[in-house]
Amino acid sequence: MGSSILIKNGHIIDPSQGIDGVGDILIEDGKIKEIKKIRSSEDKKKIKNEEILTSQPLNLLSPQLKIIDAAGLYVLPGLIDMHTHLREPGFEYKETIKTGTMAAVMGGFTALCCMPNTNPVNDNETVTEFILRRTYAEGACHVYPVGAITKGQTGEELAELGMMHDAGCVAFSDDGRPVMNGLIMRRALEYSRIFNVPIISHCEDLDLSESGVMNEGSLSTILGLKGIPSASEEVMVARDIILAGLTRGRLHIAHVSTAGSVELIRRAKNDGVDVTAETCPHYFSITEDAVKNYDTNAKVTPPLRTQRDVEAIKEGLRDGTIDVIATDHAPHHRDEKLQEFDRAPSGISGLETALGLSLRLVEEGILTISQLVEKMAINPARILGLNMATLKVGADADAVIMDINKEFKVESKKFASMGKNTPFDGWVLKGMPVLTICKGKVFDWMIDE
Ligand code: DOR
Repeated sequence: MGSSILIKNGHIIDPSQGIDGVGDILIEDGKIKEIKKIRSSEDKKKIKNEEILTSQPLNLLSPQLKIIDAAGLYVLPGLIDMHTHLREPGFEYKETIKTGTMAAVMGGFTALCCMPNTNPVNDNETVTEFILRRTYAEGACHVYPVGAITKGQTGEELAELGMMHDAGCVAFSDDGRPVMNGLIMRRALEYSRIFNVPIISHCEDLDLSESGVMNEGSLSTILGLKGIPSASEEVMVARDIILAGLTRGRLHIAHVSTAGSVELIRRAKNDGVDVTAETCPHYFSITEDAVKNYDTNAKVTPPLRTQRDVEAIKEGLRDGTIDVIATDHAPHHRDEKLQEFDRAPSGISGLETALGLSLRLVEEGILTISQLVEKMAINPARILGLNMATLKVGADADAVIMDINKEFKVESKKFASMGKNTPFDGWVLKGMPVLTICKGKVFDWMIDE
């Protein structure tokens, strides 16, 4: 008999089963063995799945039982980040699979997709297999590789999508760079239909970006920094939507940052185009003002925009135009970020602040906790075709226990991630994961504090 874990008295939210109520979960050998409702959180709320929420006591057979008292805490399916940069192979001085997946579980994530802009680029099955082997050896959570669309991410020639798909890639993207050639994007979208996987598009017209380093506007003029106009993102969102319509391929727009992109995606969805979209916590939490003092930790691609864009992104999340909140976790070495603004690399280390920042949307009444779970677990799983993000009996025991009232100060020096590059250092956020369970393994850094 293997080990068992009993999570008692937690407020379970599992949209996959329509569960929103206090109950117990029994985990055995890394799988959900039983789930029992004690009472509904609000009597008027209908618990759809009464039959699995039996009123019988849980069947505690295992002699090695770990009991977790989750009274007053939320129990959610483990979060899934569909946009992480793990940096291994090639940039292990920024992050490794080991440290990146530890950062993930610290942030409440039990699965992530890693982008291919490594060295070598993940543009063939050997690199994909390497990532999966390293994950098996050292990963704290599930890792699903994203293969490159083009060889070397140069945008010139399609990579071996079929071989990478067979090796385990769940999506394709040249993230970090756009696919500037429309014909290559068209072909990639055609393949996305064959393999039934999404093409994750980094929408940026490099000619319009013109080596800009922040949002284009009066602030960029005042700071004397070259700007990237919203149009740089939006023309590519428009192009890719048109190509998705043409090919009936599966398009997913990465890191949406502008009001115009939200509107284009909204219209495309209304027109029946198969498009999904993600944004990241920094695009709804801060504006271009964060770079006012040339803080390279706020330098990111696409750049932080204006308050108007922030409001449009929140509305897009509220009305379902934006399906997913992803981190775009982009760790960089301190010395790289210490350069002048123009020269420093773009990116924010996001895995360990994503949940706290996103819970502000719940506080503001933009999303319910259940909708947040949809954006951070259910929808990524659906888009990627992963059979997870559920606490159903028989599923992998991937869960996060969260204290919605616990305030914490963001201290990047304490991040598990090697990337300390965050513009949120020192922020006090309310609501944090206190314990993550991945495949039945418990990471309980807070309980023992
Ligand atoms: O800011 C970013 N950093 N945006 C990207 O698209 C790539 C990422 C990176 O790899 O550092």
